[in-house]
Amino acid sequence: MNLILLGPPGAGKGTQGALLASHFDVPRIATGDLLREAVRRGTPMGQKAQSYMDAGELVPDPVILGLVREVLEDHAGSSSGSGDSGDSPGAIFDGFPRNIPQAEALDELLEELNMSLDAVILVDVPDDVLVKRLSGRRSCPECGKVHNIHYDPPSEEGVCDRCGGTLVERADDAPETVRKRLTVYRQSTEPLIEFYDDSPTPVRRVDGDGPVKIVQKRILEELGG
Ligand code: AP5
Repeated sequence: MNLILLGPPGAGKGTQGALLASHFDVPRIATGDLLREAVRRGTPMGQKAQSYMDAGELVPDPVILGLVREVLEDHAGSSSGSGDSGDSPGAIFDGFPRNIPQAEALDELLEELNMSLDAVILVDVPDDVLVKRLSGRRSCPECGKVHNIHYDPPSEEGVCDRCGGTLVERADDAPETVRKRLTVYRQSTEPLIEFYDDSPTPVRRVDGDGPVKIVQKRILEELGG
C-alpha cells in the first residue's frame, strides 16, 4: 500500500498517518517529522531546513527529495531483505509531496523502485478548526506523542501521558506562522489535487472534521475497508 495523505496544516495527517501505518503494517514517511528530528540533532540538513520551517515556508525540493529517497530505499531494501524493492509493502506518505515537482519526483522514484501509488487521500477540514487544533497542539519531544489541549488533553497539564516528558508547543504553530503555512498550502500544495485527479489515482476526499476514530473509519471506508 503506497498512500499519500494530503491536507492543510492541522488536518490530522500525522494522527491518521500513524493509525494507517499501524493498520496496514507499513512505515509512515513524514517529511515534517524527519526534518524536525534533523533540526533537533543539529545535522547539516537540519541546519539548512530550520529557517524555512520557522518561517512556515517549504524546505527546498533537493533537500526533501534526498531525504525521501534515502528513507524509501532504506525501507524497500529492508523489507525484501535482498535490496530488491519489488516485494516492498509500501508506505504512508504524510506531508510529502508538497508541490508538483515533488509529486513528479515521487512518481519517478516509485517507478525506479518498482512500486506504484495506490491511493491519494485528501483530509478536508475547515480553516477555523485547523487554527483551533494547531493552537492546542502540545507534543512530547521525548516520545513523540501528540496531545491537544482542546481535544485530547493530558491528564496532568504540560506532562506527557505516555512517558511523563514535558510537553512543548511547535514553534511553527504560532498564529502568524500558521497563517503563512496555510497560504503556502493553498499556493503550492493544493494544485496537487488537480495533478492527481488527472492521474490513475484521483484524489479521494474525506471529511476530516470529527473525532479521530470517526475520521479513520471514513478513510478506511474510502479505501474499501
Ligand atoms: P509538517 O510537520 O508536515 O506540518 P503540516 O503539514 O503543516 O502538518 P501538521 O503536522 O501541522 O498537521 P497534521 O495535518 O499532521 O495534523 P496532526 O495530526 O499533527 O511540516 C512542517 C514544516 O516542515 C513545513 O511547514 C515545511 O517547512 C517543512 N516540510 C515538511 N514537509 C515538507 C515537504 N515535503 N517539502 C517542503 N517542506 C516540508 O494534528 C494537529 C493537531 O490536531 C494535533 O494536536 C492532533 O492531536 C489534533 N487532531 C488531529 N486530528 C484530530 C481530530 N480528528 N479531532 C481533534 N483533534 C485532532
